[in-house]
Amino acid sequence: MNPVKVGICGLGTVGGGTFNVLKRNAEEIARRAGRGIEVAQIAARRPNPKCDTGSTPITADIFEVANNPDIDVVIELIGGYTLAHELVLKAIENGKHVVTANKALIAVHGNEIFAKAREKGVIVAFEAAVAGGIPVIKAIREGLAANRINWLAGIINGTGNFILTEMREKGRAFADVLKEAQALGYAEADPTFDVEGIDAAHKLTILASIAFGIPLQFDKAYTEGITQLTTADVNYAEALGYRIKHLGVARRTDKGIELRVHPTLIPADRLIANVNGVMNAVMVNGDAAGSTLFYGAGAGMEPTASSVVADLVDVVRATTADPENRVPHLAFQPDSLSDHPILPIDACESAYYLRIQAKDHPGVLAQVATILSERGINIESIMQMEVEEHDGLVPMILVTHRVLESRIIEAIAALEALDDVVGNVVRIRVEQLN
Ligand code: HSE
Repeated sequence: MNPVKVGICGLGTVGGGTFNVLKRNAEEIARRAGRGIEVAQIAARRPNPKCDTGSTPITADIFEVANNPDIDVVIELIGGYTLAHELVLKAIENGKHVVTANKALIAVHGNEIFAKAREKGVIVAFEAAVAGGIPVIKAIREGLAANRINWLAGIINGTGNFILTEMREKGRAFADVLKEAQALGYAEADPTFDVEGIDAAHKLTILASIAFGIPLQFDKAYTEGITQLTTADVNYAEALGYRIKHLGVARRTDKGIELRVHPTLIPADRLIANVNGVMNAVMVNGDAAGSTLFYGAGAGMEPTASSVVADLVDVVRATTADPENRVPHLAFQPDSLSDHPILPIDACESAYYLRIQAKDHPGVLAQVATILSERGINIESIMQMEVEEHDGLVPMILVTHRVLESRIIEAIAALEALDDVVGNVVRIRVEQLN
């Protein structure tokens, strides 16, 4: 049988890795796919020194690949929302299957892209868009297909996890570690996407869709970054038995679906709390399987290429099946997607870590406890530190039980209005993940 012909658009880190893996493992991949896979064309603005493309034709124009009648599958690895969007639509219009690692594209334009792909009977595969080399899309979409999924929680941005790990383990400053993450090639072109939780929210949006069978709704995801975290809070969390992680959480409730990315205290003895450096992990809780944990490299040349090539193998196999009998893009049949709403953040429920800077006066603790109890907020633990020499203030650290976000916002406003409380109350969400 003739080999399947693919065109790679973008020869950066992931494009170079994909070419190298396809070449190195060609025989093994063909044995799996049932056909050879040949890179028939590459679109790249410049060569990649880590990738010897030999005699493979190279063009600077990505649309040449999308319009090339010899190409069966277009691999989109250019990133971004605009050109990538046009390229993918053009490839679909021309009847080509698409494999992409572009989380922003899928999270923002996925509903439109999948609808167009269905019209044309082609596949758009996107395993590499979430958590690099971890096959978590396939695991949720196919491996956990028996389950009603209750919640999932993930460390899905390697750059942010690297920063938090270095802050905690080495006491390094935020800005200094971010610079190193950029130099190591972990960060997005715009690193605010990493540290403000946008990249993680793209990935969480995709995971939530396939977990709950809902359309992609990136615009409703709540994001809070890690830029305001201090080493003091990292250390207090540690003293209370928690680690701070930048977590994406998607939870199904009766009222709707929570979709949120924010710094989160997790009990230090949970496996996911010990996922360090640039590694990613996704915990999925289903009613039949219970909790499962998927761990691995969330970014990088060959880990991401591993997912791109796995998608290619799936596409090659699926070309022999009727479009109606293929695995649906978002795991559930397109006419069976649910309209269960995404909840606004003030309707979400969580436990909270609060740090209050108080004057060293008698009765402050009692006032704090009254404000919380009046709002039905149950305190799980409390820790009052020594007076700080530099400002004479006493840090008070509290962890609450689960409560509605709107209640805690109200309580924080009341705490900040106390004469004996100085400055803003620091608030970080807590998830037990059990
Ligand atoms: N900037 C992303 C990260 C790359 O740090 O996880 C992989 O999506």
